[in-house]
Amino acid sequence: MKNEVLRFLREQEEYLSGEEISRRLGISRTAVWKQINTLKKEGYEIASQTRIGYRLISVPDRLYPEEIQKQLRTNLVGRNMIYRERVDSTNILARQTGETGFVDGTVILAEEQTAGKGRLGRVWHSPMGTGINMSLLLRPAIPVSDAAKITLLTGAAVARGLEEITGLKIGIKWPNDLQIQGKKVSGILTEIKADMDQIHYLIVGIGINVNEQDFPEELRETATSLHMEVGRQVSRIETAAVVLNHWEEIYQRFLTQGFTVVREEWKQYAVTLGKEVHVRTINETIHGQALDIDEDGLLLVQDEDHQIHRIMAGDVTLRT
Ligand code: BTN
Repeated sequence: MKNEVLRFLREQEEYLSGEEISRRLGISRTAVWKQINTLKKEGYEIASQTRIGYRLISVPDRLYPEEIQKQLRTNLVGRNMIYRERVDSTNILARQTGETGFVDGTVILAEEQTAGKGRLGRVWHSPMGTGINMSLLLRPAIPVSDAAKITLLTGAAVARGLEEITGLKIGIKWPNDLQIQGKKVSGILTEIKADMDQIHYLIVGIGINVNEQDFPEELRETATSLHMEVGRQVSRIETAAVVLNHWEEIYQRFLTQGFTVVREEWKQYAVTLGKEVHVRTINETIHGQALDIDEDGLLLVQDEDHQIHRIMAGDVTLRT
């Protein structure tokens, strides 16, 4: 009902009377008034004039599913959305949802995460209302060994989306750190539940720093936000929708044409390839030149003894 009232207000440039809304929806004037109040509490700015009616002035930049969905061109992803004001982690909520009969392509969004998860056990800084914290919950019919490719595909999609929104050059540090001029603006955390031959569900967690104007001391040197880079407030609704639209387009291409096209796209953003790097993996640190990513999305690094290492997971730093 609330969304119906909102839809009427959107369609109307001028004031729309409470009577008109109540007639069209077949509800009482009091019920209309209640819905208007709910919308106002959610941050919608609605002007009301006695005996004239209501007019929508502005929409809050909150990650409300109906606002994002209006800008989606997707068939799968984001058709079903779960929204929370505050959550421990959207990836954790996605996992809980994955254990139930979920809709493929469900997107989970939160304004704030109290225990946002980063890669390698790190914390993802996610204060109230400034960034995009979202998790895609999927049931892809792909081999378990292909899951890592989804991370790379997501990096390319987010990079494309952020370039479209800001007009700035986005770089990707393997596997999934999105950067603007060397500072991290977005990260991706992919998790799966699978057995040997089947993925039960796959979660793609995407964090984007959008309107942060400062970061805690320990991140200040290394993190940035879209706002800090373009010098103005950036719409989180639009950013989320643009990223999801690109994501589905690349995902479909991956499913129909395979990883080669995605790999080429990913490489256009790569900032690590051709560079001298240190790569810290679980059991060793490799020094060498990052040559390429292979057909499985693994990083190829050639060390000083000309030995080539295929790296599945690790932390890359550029050698200075
Ligand atoms: C990284 O670069 O370390 C990955 C960061 C991933 C953060 C996102 S925010 C939405 C989703 N929920 C989480 O708890 N983490 C991911």
